[in-house]
Formats: sequence, structure tokens, C-alpha cells
Amino acid sequence: MNEGNETPPVRPPGGCPVTGAGAKQVEGPNGFPMSLPLLSTVAYAADPPGFSLRAQKNHGTVVKLPLLPHNPTVQLSSPEAIRRVLQGNADNYSRGAYYEAFELFMGRGLLTLDDGDWRPHRKVVNPAFTPNAIAARAAETDAAVADLLDRWAEHARTGRPFDLFTESMALTCRVMGLALVGKDLSQDGGEFARAVSVALEAIFKNVGLDKIIPAFIPTRHRRRTAAARRTLERVVAQAAQDVDLGVGGEVATLIRESDLPEDALWSDLVTLFLAGVETTALTLCWTLYEIARNPVVRDHLEEETDRVLGRRLPTNRDLADLPYAGMVVAEGLRMHPPVWQFTREAIEDDVLADHHIPAGTPLLVSVYGAHYNPEQWENPERFDPERFRPGSTATQDRSAYLPFGGGRRQCIGKRMGLALLEQAVAGISGRFRLTLTSGEAGSGAYITLFPKGGIRVTAKERRR
Ligand code: HEM
Repeated sequence: MNEGNETPPVRPPGGCPVTGAGAKQVEGPNGFPMSLPLLSTVAYAADPPGFSLRAQKNHGTVVKLPLLPHNPTVQLSSPEAIRRVLQGNADNYSRGAYYEAFELFMGRGLLTLDDGDWRPHRKVVNPAFTPNAIAARAAETDAAVADLLDRWAEHARTGRPFDLFTESMALTCRVMGLALVGKDLSQDGGEFARAVSVALEAIFKNVGLDKIIPAFIPTRHRRRTAAARRTLERVVAQAAQDVDLGVGGEVATLIRESDLPEDALWSDLVTLFLAGVETTALTLCWTLYEIARNPVVRDHLEEETDRVLGRRLPTNRDLADLPYAGMVVAEGLRMHPPVWQFTREAIEDDVLADHHIPAGTPLLVSVYGAHYNPEQWENPERFDPERFRPGSTATQDRSAYLPFGGGRRQCIGKRMGLALLEQAVAGISGRFRLTLTSGEAGSGAYITLFPKGGIRVTAKERRR
């Protein structure tokens, strides 16, 4: 990013949150070419996470980005600013213009609705996400992890490399499918998994340059998007039928039997699938990738699983006795947060970390930036689960770590996702050692942060 020689105006700290008087103006790139919205948007589309981190490095943790079509957008990675948006002054922040793009697949539901309309949706599905509800479904997760390990035993026997993302998606499609609609959604040759990924990509592209191409042109992207929609429609229609026959999944039943509008079954189920399946699968991929690259972490994890579990598989009840597995997953989520940014919009003027934010400003809350902020994290490029050891000072500012968001809109699937991840990481580490065959993975991003080119590994049984 070429930002020219800028000297930010010096103003006293603080400032009136209503008028912004006394607060700094938010700065951003002002030199050619990155001050031009079109060029800046093209550069962003080519490498969203890299663009985002460069902006933070060059202009700080509250930075103005000249991005189309919502120019200017302000990117936040300052813990103080994020805390105010998600908690201190949350009433002043709506979902905003970027979230409108999510309605392409998610309709008006759990993720896209503003707080007033959103509350009844969250209340209806909440009983399926409590610790008791997750524990009650533990046998499904135990069986899914056990089957994954058996499949990998075959990979280990042949010594053939396999793709971690495909395997992780099969696991999450099964576990989330059973929890949401009572169906193992990994049994269709990967069609459902593909539909989830294509839908997320389509939502991301629904904001930007794709809109410029006339609607009647059936581009490859549009054909894939239509196919993804058909797959999701089939799953939701089947879920409705199953509930009516009394054999529906827990979440589908809660929604169908509630007072929510008829279209909530589509919007909330699709939202839960799109928000839960790929995010959790990507976290598993990235975390296993880091374990394979960090022998000290791997040895520590193996020591814990051997000591606690011996030769048996972990169950949901073991998780409390596997703290290191939890720390490893937490660090995986810091370095590779699958939801690497999310958005809000200021309703009234506000002041965020001494910067004036005019009403109507679209905001990108940069989870990625917050997790790589050297002021908050020592040596942020290093994979170091010790940051998450209880009592460690590395995580004192909770707003510097937000893989699941924060405040009242914090991720409803946090417990479900973490439980599955910790169980899978412990189960895999207890039985296999993975070797990377695909080299270093760069980060690509649409809505989620993914390993460019994928991650391929070979597995070796630890004890034969
Ligand atoms: C590692 C896995 C996951 C990560 C990193 C993650 C991340 C996030 C983040 C950052 C948000 C906040 C978005 C915002 O405030 O704008 C969020 C919200 C949400 N997530 Fe997750 N999520 C994960 C797993 C899940 C799972 C397993 C489900 C459900 C099956 C789920 C369902 C949702 C829903 C419905 C919301 C919207 C909540 C609301 O506004 O009430 N997520 N997630």
C-alpha cells in the first residue's frame, strides 16, 4: 500500500461521542494509487487478509479504507474501539450495508437481523446450543470422530496424501447436520459441503465487482451459486418434511414449532449451516497444520492425550481433563480466525479510540488484525498455545481476542464448535502423526479465511 507522507492531525484525546468534536479524523491511504477506490478495491480483492494487515501496519488500528461499494469503510482492530462497538455502545451499531449481501442466502434471520428483530430468533434456537444440549448429543460426536479416525487409518495404511479440508468438512457436515436437521450431511459425495463453500464465496462476491456484470449473463460463478442454492433448498425442504413427520432434527423442530415467520426455517437453518460448518472445519485444518509444523507443541499434545486417555478415544466428558488440547485450538483460532472480519454500521456519530466516526460509517471489525496486533501479542507470527494457559498475561485484554465475536451477538455455536474441535484434535493426536506434503499454506479469504491451495498431509499411526 502506497500511502504517501502523512502526518495525522494531533488532537486532544477523548472527544464528544455525539458530535465528534475534539476527536481525530480517521486517516487512511492518501497517496496514489491506493487512495483511488477502484484500485484499492482491486488490490483488496486480490489479497483481502494481506491488504487488511498492511492497512493496519501503515495506518494503525482505526483506519479508513477506500473500498467500493461502501467507500469509505473504517477498519477497526483497536481493542478499545471494538469493545465500544460490540459492548459499550452496541445500541449505536446496526448490522449495516455489508450484511445486506448475506441476505442472498441467509435471508433475514439470526445473523442478518438487527438486534430488535433478531432477539426472538436467538431465543428460539438457543436451547439447542446450551452445554446440556451439547452433552446430550455427545454420542453423535463421539461416533463421528471415531469414524474419521478409522478412515484415516486407511490413509495411514496406504501412505497416500489426503486433503485436510475435505476430511474436516465431512466431519462438520455430519455433526452439524445431525444437530440441526437430524441428518448426516456428509453422505452425498461432498455436494452439501460444496454448497456451503460456494454460498459463502457468493455472499462475499455479492458485495463487490461481480455486481458490475449484467444479471442475464450466466457466468460460471452464477451457475455454481444456483447449484448451491438448489442443494440447500433440498436440505431445508427435507428438514421441514421430517419435522412434520415427527422425525426432524433438534434445531429444525425448534424453529418449525415456534412463532417465527414461515421463512425462518430457510433463513435460520441456512445461516446456521453457513456460519457453523466451514468455520469449524477450517479451524480444524489450520490447527492440525500448525501442530504438524510445531514438533514441541505436537509432543506436548501427545503426552497429554496418552496420559489422560491411554489408548481410548476422547469423549465429550474428557475435555475438561485435556486443557492443552483446548489451548492449542485457542491458538489455532488466534492465528487463523475463520471469521477474519465482520461488519457493523454507526447509527449516530461516535468516538472510537479517540477517532470521530460519523453516522452511517460502515465498519469492518478486523478479527485478523486484532489477533496480529504486535501491541497486544508478543511475536504474533509464532504459534504458541502457552498464551492461553490459565493465568497467562497474554490474553488480559479480552477484546484483543475475538474469534467468536463479542457482546450479545457473540457466536451461538461457540461451545458446539469448540467441543467438536477439542475432541477431534485430541483424538487425532492420540492416534496419528501428520506430515505436511503441501508446503507452507498462504491465507486466502472470502467470508472465511482459508488455506490457499489446500493442506495435504500423510498420516502415520503412532502405535501399531
Ligand atoms: C470455529 C468455529 C466458529 C467461528 C470461528 C465462528 C465465528 C463467529 C463470529 C465471529 C460471529 C459473530 C459475527 C458478528 O458479530 O457479526 C459468529 C456468529 C454466529 N455464529 Fe459462529 N462461529 C463458529 C462456529 C459456529 C457454529 C458451530 C455455529 C452453529 C452451528 C455458528 C453459528 C453462528 C450464528 C447463528 C451466528 C450469529 C449469532 C447472532 O448474531 O445471534 N457458528 N460466529
